[in-house]
Amino acid sequence: MLTTQASHKENTKELLKIAMPKGRINRPAIKLFQEAGFAVPDDLEDSRKLIITVPDAALEFIMAKPVDVATYVEYGAADIGIVGKDVLMEDNRDVYELLDLGIARCRMSVIGLPDWKPAINLKVATKYPNVASQYFRERGQQVNVIKLNGSIELAPLIGLADRIVDMVETGATIVENGLVEMEQIFSITSRLIANRVSYRMKNERIQDLCDRLQEVITGRETVQVK
Ligand code: PRP
Repeated sequence: MLTTQASHKENTKELLKIAMPKGRINRPAIKLFQEAGFAVPDDLEDSRKLIITVPDAALEFIMAKPVDVATYVEYGAADIGIVGKDVLMEDNRDVYELLDLGIARCRMSVIGLPDWKPAINLKVATKYPNVASQYFRERGQQVNVIKLNGSIELAPLIGLADRIVDMVETGATIVENGLVEMEQIFSITSRLIANRVSYRMKNERIQDLCDRLQEVITGRETVQVK
């Protein structure tokens, strides 16, 4: 927690607007901010409020759908944001990627039924059509990409697609649905991103936040290595 003196100092600062993803990244992100000394309450996500100001930390949290975080940041509605690498790879937004936060670790994978047979013109269902298209294009494989918005694992089970390209975290969803992970495409962690103008205009604040978060991340990595 901050000392009263530090809180007062942050109180006098201009608000830094942070697009914060709701859902699975939310709690580890809040924990990271708290460990970095920002007085952020645990229950950001518990109310239906979408804009939550934390005056002691001079932060304003914009509670966003994870896929929309980079949009708020790109257009300057938020100065910075926390977003999964999966979303950044898919959407290719014009933002600065400042830090690998090392939270919400998972991976992007190609998944299918265990008895799959090679086929021409594979049908691939995914929430990530750009990632999937690029992956198969680089391998010289022609595929038909089918965009879905969730429960992607259904697609091979009901004959909509031969494969899926999706995020795997614990692997429980694929195991429980009798699917297998065929190939890992890339690792995913959450990233801190910044609007290009905000990064210049609020550089000192953003840099200070980065330094404090980086210290926590480095500390965590050191503990993991030991
Ligand atoms: C994601 C992803 C997988 C699942 C992987 O879905 O699309 O379905 O999590 O997690 P696991 O490896 O720990 O089982 P999400 O929960 O975001 O919901 P969705 O299916 O509606 O996209």
